[in-house]
Amino acid sequence: MNVYPIKTEANSSQQLGQPVGVTLDRFIKRKEGEFPYASGELSQLLRDIALAAKIVHKEISRSGLLGIEGAFGRENVQGESQQKLDVIANIRFTRAFRNGGEVCAMISEEDELLIPMNQDASYIVAIDPLDGSSNIDANVSIGTIFSIYRRKSRRGTKVKNEDLLQAGSEQVAAGYVLYGSSTMLVYTTGCGVNGFTYEPSLGEFFLSHPDIKTPKDGKLYSINEGNYHQFDRGIQEYIKFCYRREMSSRYIGSLVADFHRNLLKGGVYLYPPTRTNPDGKLRLIYECNALAFIVEQAGGQATDGKRRILDLQPNCLHERTPLFIGSELLVNALKNCLITDLRPTGS
Ligand code: AHG
Ligand code: MN
Ligand code: MN
Repeated sequence: MNVYPIKTEANSSQQLGQPVGVTLDRFIKRKEGEFPYASGELSQLLRDIALAAKIVHKEISRSGLLGIEGAFGRENVQGESQQKLDVIANIRFTRAFRNGGEVCAMISEEDELLIPMNQDASYIVAIDPLDGSSNIDANVSIGTIFSIYRRKSRRGTKVKNEDLLQAGSEQVAAGYVLYGSSTMLVYTTGCGVNGFTYEPSLGEFFLSHPDIKTPKDGKLYSINEGNYHQFDRGIQEYIKFCYRREMSSRYIGSLVADFHRNLLKGGVYLYPPTRTNPDGKLRLIYECNALAFIVEQAGGQATDGKRRILDLQPNCLHERTPLFIGSELLVNALKNCLITDLRPTGS
């Protein structure tokens, strides 16, 4: 009989609860190892994004106190305590890319012009530093969306339009950070989608959602229905289709949060053209492309109503596009409604 039980790896991790998970760092390293010629620059860039996300997470979690601190006249060393969170997030990501050295130019929702960085670097980043900013004051989930492209022009030269205005199909990686009931980072490099949950006390992201696949069909539809009378007939018909199927309406008003929920549960998100925004409201380069890449990698679809989002050729940095994105069958049904709507009446 074994009087003194021997401590094995299995029973010691049981005593401590769950076995130690896979950190984002380790996951990135492992993936890099699968590409024999990987230089490590993209891995470093992903780590820079994770670092900035941790800082933004911290800023957001104390944002409710900013007003109080401000009232007491307190400011941080940069004098930033009075700034809006989307401006702060922009500063944090810009700094992370500048210090990291892997980015030759950054396109941001918060900056009208592109931000040139390290000319010797290979990557362009397009970013919405804080998405859903109208929700900040109400303590509702918000996010960050990012796309990464490899430059077409030679390193060491100034970036050109061909580097900046690439179609979404050229993305080498894309992802988002969701600052919700927990903070998550979800990304793809074109080999599936993986999600990581942040453990603030350890300062680490852990793999929590490996190889995410979105359901083929779903029960959720997400659209700002207050704009109903501004929508084309095809969209109105689609909404009626959702009613007939007794689907549930869910709309947070933060694209990242609405998208993430639908990705996991199955559903469709729509931002169609309206009278006030005839090209739709969302931005192609730093909102739609990243989510379109992710949804396709997860088995779903993204369209502007006529064309695949990832095939759209951007003409300017802040271009808008209609967006219909989500589960395959729901996006197909939407396309059908739009085709029917285009047919001359009586056909
Ligand atoms: P941002 O906060 O980056 O400007 O984006 C807001 C976007 C998106 O997050 C959201 O889905 C959409 O605007 C909501 O628009 P409506 O208020 O028109 O529904
Ligand atoms: Mn946004
Ligand atoms: Mn934004």
